[in-house]
Amino acid sequence: MANKQTNFIYHIHPEKVPASTIRFTHTFGLGGMALVLFLLQIVTGILLKFVYEPTPDKAYDSILFMQNHLLFGHYIRNIHHLSGTLLIFVALFHLLRVFFTEAFYGPRSSNWIIGVVIFIIILFSNFTGYLLPWDQLSYWAVTVVTQMLSYIPVVGPELTSFVRGGKEVGAATLLTFFNFHTAVLPFALIILLLFHFWKVRQAGGVVVPRNRNHNGKGIIPVVPELVVRELVTGLILLAVIFLLAVFIDAPLRERANPAYSPNPAKAPWYFLGIQELIMHFHPFIGVVIIPVTLFTLLFYLPCFPFRIRNTGIWFSSSKGRKMALISALLALVIHPILIVASEYLIHFNTWFPSLLPVISGGLFPLILYSIIFLLYLFYIIRRYKPLSNEIVQAVFVYFLVTYTVLSITAIFFRGPGMALMWPWKIS
Ligand code: HEM
Ligand code: HEM
Repeated sequence: MANKQTNFIYHIHPEKVPASTIRFTHTFGLGGMALVLFLLQIVTGILLKFVYEPTPDKAYDSILFMQNHLLFGHYIRNIHHLSGTLLIFVALFHLLRVFFTEAFYGPRSSNWIIGVVIFIIILFSNFTGYLLPWDQLSYWAVTVVTQMLSYIPVVGPELTSFVRGGKEVGAATLLTFFNFHTAVLPFALIILLLFHFWKVRQAGGVVVPRNRNHNGKGIIPVVPELVVRELVTGLILLAVIFLLAVFIDAPLRERANPAYSPNPAKAPWYFLGIQELIMHFHPFIGVVIIPVTLFTLLFYLPCFPFRIRNTGIWFSSSKGRKMALISALLALVIHPILIVASEYLIHFNTWFPSLLPVISGGLFPLILYSIIFLLYLFYIIRRYKPLSNEIVQAVFVYFLVTYTVLSITAIFFRGPGMALMWPWKIS
């Protein structure tokens, strides 16, 4: 056996951990899986970089060349695409695991904040990669998203030009996105992840329910118990990706044509919820106020003054579980109704033509929505008489399901002109 001072494993893990923490359902291995996916992105990304050329006249051809003439070129591109998408889901599920076991307090609070930053960088890693194939899909998706920035008051139009490196998405945008994608963001992620792992170690490992007393019993050695489990989970994940990448192709449409916009032009799927929001609220509310408020609350989470902390217990309590479920169901029912009503019945803009659009199309729908939200809040508080952490959890679930409904609507139920329609009618 390797010397404990020199064994790399003991830099990451303590020598012994509580047996309960190595059960798969304790963390679902999600942090480890996210790490495997990130490492896979680096390896496949470096291979792609040997061939890819970040200029508008060569980018698309370099992808075609890699797909059609290089041994495993297509396959490696598929793996990079697939694991990039999976990374968003796995990081999100890991965030949810941490949230629902209340592992964002005390010694873990700074790690929660680092985690939220990591999550945002993962989204932007995907977004910057999205442009690189330089096809119609990527060109117009990036045009749509960068256009959203122009709705930010005062600095909006300048910000859009700054991000694009000019008036339109073009050579400068491609080069900037390429540099961010292959250097700045991966470097930032590596630094943050090293910090993230150190913080897990510093907090004494993963969270366990506070009142569980181990007394030396149920403590097991990390080698081989935990390390073997991590290895098996990682290998199974890799096997699944390598298999799926044989069948699922990374998308590649026609070469980008700045003169011809596809209809509908949609943002990448993870930003489509925001694109859907601006169908119902003035863009200033949809792009700035709502997302900024929600992310600020997410960062602020460890500072909420909860009276009783149920750290390490899934959903806090059985009441917490019920409230989360009812919130999910309510959000699932309310939002499709609101989306249809806002499309066909409620038109504040045309009802109050003399008012500023940000008031009639922004403030008024926001007030209406806030009333509906407060009714929901009133209902669950009256019915369950919950603790403050159970309320926070229920509201979190409510907004999570809301964003999912918005995204699904924009992905499957929006056709030409972004009008609502049934999926089977979209050609
Ligand atoms: C968190 C890490 C990363 C994520 C989430 C990510 C995601 C993506 C995505 C979604 C694409 C578009 C692929 C497609 O669907 O067509 C892409 C393309 C690309 N990525 Fe990454 N990537 C990551 C890291 C890297 C790194 C570290 C490198 C290189 C050092 C890299 C190099 C490339 C290249 C050259 C392309 C263009 C080729 C293509 O589009 O197939 N990526 N990436
Ligand atoms: C590439 C992305 C990420 C990687 C590789 C990663 C990795 C890990 C690992 C390996 C652990 C140890 C326990 C476990 O597996 O659950 C962990 C714990 C933790 N992660 Fe992450 N993580 C990532 C993203 C995030 C995100 C997006 C958040 C949340 C906002 C987050 C917050 C935390 C917190 C608070 C802990 C401590 C949890 C506990 O003690 O139970 N991480 N992370």
